[in-house]
Amino acid sequence: MYEHYRILVQMIQAEVIRSLKQHPLKNEVCLEAALHIASAPSHLWRPLLCIKVWHALTRESHQRILPIACSAELIHVASMILDDLPCMDNAKIRRAKPACHILFGEGIAALSSFWLMDVAQHLVHKADFPKPRLDVLENKLRAAKDFMIKGQMVDLEAVNPSVEQVIEMYRCKSGALYAYALTAPAIALGREEAVSLLTELGESVGIAYQMADDIFDVEGDKNVLGKEVGMDAGKPTLPRLIGLERTRQRKNELKARCFEICRQLFGPESEVEQLVNKVIV
Ligand code: IPE
Ligand code: MG
Ligand code: MG
Ligand code: MG
Repeated sequence: MYEHYRILVQMIQAEVIRSLKQHPLKNEVCLEAALHIASAPSHLWRPLLCIKVWHALTRESHQRILPIACSAELIHVASMILDDLPCMDNAKIRRAKPACHILFGEGIAALSSFWLMDVAQHLVHKADFPKPRLDVLENKLRAAKDFMIKGQMVDLEAVNPSVEQVIEMYRCKSGALYAYALTAPAIALGREEAVSLLTELGESVGIAYQMADDIFDVEGDKNVLGKEVGMDAGKPTLPRLIGLERTRQRKNELKARCFEICRQLFGPESEVEQLVNKVIV
């Protein structure tokens, strides 16, 4: 099982790097800055989930969905580069390496994030699916990006948000991109009937993931996480609002709902469910 994940992760990582190096709008500086983060070891949860859902829906090899899976990862990397900037979280470490702007400067970091978003959209645009489905996928990618922007704006500016507003912020800044990654295989295959449950699954995974991330910021280990902790002081987070224990409780409730959806869609003990169990710690 472990070996199986290692091989999948290596394949995704290689495809991410290849898609950056082969992007038709070449930019050596942006490429180097983007690769600094994109090629660092990471979980690759979003592309992994995308590929697992693909395998749950079809016997076809994952070759055709791979670029779409990578597009979710590239949007994620772009958002991390922006998120670390001094004007946002002012973080200095990402994926156990200096943050992008620490090595390349703030301007290049911001520009490489723009460039990464274009690579992601291009991957979807030229994927090997019927044009009407690609149009839907492209719009879904843009919507996920738009939600991420809105979520990050709330994260930066909210004053005394309610629990519901914080969860809605989580849905926007993290849930939307997970929902894109999870629904993309169903959209690509024309399996519309699965899209609404996969959207709920993706959003729930993203919200629970962000709850776990905010818990880690309080009690996690910098060396294990590969990023600084204690960065959320003064931020609108659930642990800050309701404490660690109740946040953990809400996270576990969402995790149980995720398992329920997995069973409804894919039957008991599916590989999607096993992966969701790893993503939401
Ligand atoms: C960032 O949330 C979410 C997005 C960039 C969309 P965080 O600011 O909590 O992420 P980390 O902890 O820096 O990875
Ligand atoms: Mg942030
Ligand atoms: Mg951050
Ligand atoms: Mg965080």
